[in-house]
Amino acid sequence: MKIQDKHYHTIWLKKDKPSIVQVIDQRKLPFSFEIVDLKTVSDVFFAIQKMVVRGAPLIGITAAYGMYLALFEADERDFARSINRKAEYLKSARPTAVNLAFAVDEMLQFILKEKDSPRIIEKTLKKVHSLKEQEIQFSEKIGEFGLELIQKIYRKKGETVNILTHCNAGWLACIDWGTATAPIYKAHLKGIPVHVWVDETRPRNQGARLTAFELSEEGVPHTVIADNTGGHLMQHGKVDLVIVGSDRTTVTGDVANKIGTYLKALAAKDNRIPFYVALPSSTIDWSIENGLTEIPIEERGPEEVAEIEGWGNSGIQTLKLIPEKSKVANYGFDVTPARLVTGLITERGICHASQKSIQSLFPEKL
Ligand code: MRU
Repeated sequence: MKIQDKHYHTIWLKKDKPSIVQVIDQRKLPFSFEIVDLKTVSDVFFAIQKMVVRGAPLIGITAAYGMYLALFEADERDFARSINRKAEYLKSARPTAVNLAFAVDEMLQFILKEKDSPRIIEKTLKKVHSLKEQEIQFSEKIGEFGLELIQKIYRKKGETVNILTHCNAGWLACIDWGTATAPIYKAHLKGIPVHVWVDETRPRNQGARLTAFELSEEGVPHTVIADNTGGHLMQHGKVDLVIVGSDRTTVTGDVANKIGTYLKALAAKDNRIPFYVALPSSTIDWSIENGLTEIPIEERGPEEVAEIEGWGNSGIQTLKLIPEKSKVANYGFDVTPARLVTGLITERGICHASQKSIQSLFPEKL
């Protein structure tokens, strides 16, 4: 998608320097556009942990590039052990998005299989690029299937379709298109009038800062709202559809996504508003059934809640928000049970949030 009319992906190799990976620094958006060089496995680890890059699909692909960089650092005398250690290290950067472990394990298996090949670096890079390309295609397909939902509402309603989204499940969280935003971009490009309610998404404000930025750059009408506003809008008929992303979905259709998603699902259910989750299959954890007990929920530093970051006279500034002595809890994600999810929009089509329905789209996985 575009930033100031120039097309970008969220991750790429530096021109003429194939040992340097470059990413957009998402901690600085929308205030400044900066590109960060990732040269080592620890650069990749910190980029994921500190949220220079974020969003499940992008975390996965960044980690895949991390495994490529690991080839330049691995101990040749004990290659398998050394590369395994790098993989474990990368996987420990953040706990909730399953794309991280999925991508690292896939790369690890590939590298170990090719370990004696004289062209291992070239082949590994090709593998990373194929995973990246696959994520782009997944997002684009999600866009096409999700577009049908928006079209259907538009045909019935005959006026602007109002969509509520939470966090940033946009192209910045992926490589291109996004998951929750892909159907919105497709509808906008087709000339269907859409308007997006953007939850600010405290504490990191991914909605207010990143989703609003993306939508502005693409010219999609939108309004940023405080996180607690969605229920009120739904009660007053101002939301036609909710679409969110996912960081990990169980085989039974429970969905972990940014903290606050569950409350939106409850409000949507109470108001009979369709609540869809857009996700590529790389976000489905095929090994678990119970989202509440089996998905690890990231707890982040207290400063994200106790302080707020914004643009001031001297650039990006941080302000204190709460009394010095107050305790803070900062859960990064929550789980929306399958019973509150109207449907899952995947790269193979839309299904119910149930094992049987997911299985009908991905029979080879179960
Ligand atoms: O903590 P973040 O910003 O990485 O969390 C991201 C989200 O929760 C997104 O909504 C989710 O990853 C879906 S991204 C396509």
